[in-house]
Amino acid sequence: MNIVEEIRRLCTEKNAIIMAHYYQRPEVQDVADFIGDSLALAQVAAKTDADIIVMCGVHFMAETAKILCPSKKVLIPAPQAGCSLADSCKAEDLAAWKAVHPEHVVVSYVNTSAAVKALTDVVVTSSNALKIVNQLPEDKPVLFGPDQNLGSYINKMTGRQMDLWNGGCHVHARFSEEALLALKAQYPDAKVLAHPECKASILQHADVIGSTQALLNYAIANSPSPISNSEASHIRYIIATESGILHEMQKACPEVEFIAVPAEGGGCNECEYMRMCTLQNLHDCLLNESNEIIVDEAVAKDAIRPIQRMLEMS
Ligand code: 13P
Ligand code: SF4
Repeated sequence: MNIVEEIRRLCTEKNAIIMAHYYQRPEVQDVADFIGDSLALAQVAAKTDADIIVMCGVHFMAETAKILCPSKKVLIPAPQAGCSLADSCKAEDLAAWKAVHPEHVVVSYVNTSAAVKALTDVVVTSSNALKIVNQLPEDKPVLFGPDQNLGSYINKMTGRQMDLWNGGCHVHARFSEEALLALKAQYPDAKVLAHPECKASILQHADVIGSTQALLNYAIANSPSPISNSEASHIRYIIATESGILHEMQKACPEVEFIAVPAEGGGCNECEYMRMCTLQNLHDCLLNESNEIIVDEAVAKDAIRPIQRMLEMS
């Protein structure tokens, strides 16, 4: 049996579900039961009847699944897979910020630790942040963190003046505007699809701004079907987010060309944390039921409320 077949056999034997984010390695996405963005991963975790959830993603994603499913075993193949954005906001620093703004509602991006979520009024993802902020009373001041780029984008779209935490994702921070402009000049008909974690200098050139799921949905809805492939070869999208999403885009729209915006200096646009999960550590983690996620009970009790509020408001 090859490793993929063995992983699938273990899933059946143990009633386990493999969930993967769109930024995972292509071969990990291909073996998963479910692939999604941060919101969809939380929604599926909340509803699954599997006994074991294997989260192929980064630590906060597995933690969110554990908080939503305390009685299930949640495993992470690469326990060292953190997130620079989540790390940019420590719980004690958020507590201090809250203390000087006691009248504010605290809105936290899902890319945060359980301890930060426990201090939060409502969690958001890039899929639902706009919708949720629009539901908050207009006269209520808001603290938004930790992603400053997403917060600025929401402020621009809603006209709100949320106070923003100065955090960010190192992958989305390094896309090159110069390279994007060169791609646009080379392919003037190509639409630019960008994730709101990108800097304003990138977002200003985007035709579509949204979560990984929203960008994928847009590409699917606006690409010709494979059968009518006469003009299809002329369709191109320029993608400004972690390049793992190109795998699912290419599978869903095989006739279309997807071009990833490079990082500054021609550097890499992959998230090294997301790439830590491999078929081998996924297999070993499932076989040994190792790398179980444990969340402190008191923290989980406070963290579940803003996550559930998010699921209700999405
Ligand atoms: P979404 O999954 O909400 O698109 O966010 C991307 C991300 O940065 C995950 O780390
Ligand atoms: Fe975190 Fe950025 Fe990696 Fe997403 S891409 S997991 S925000 S470091």
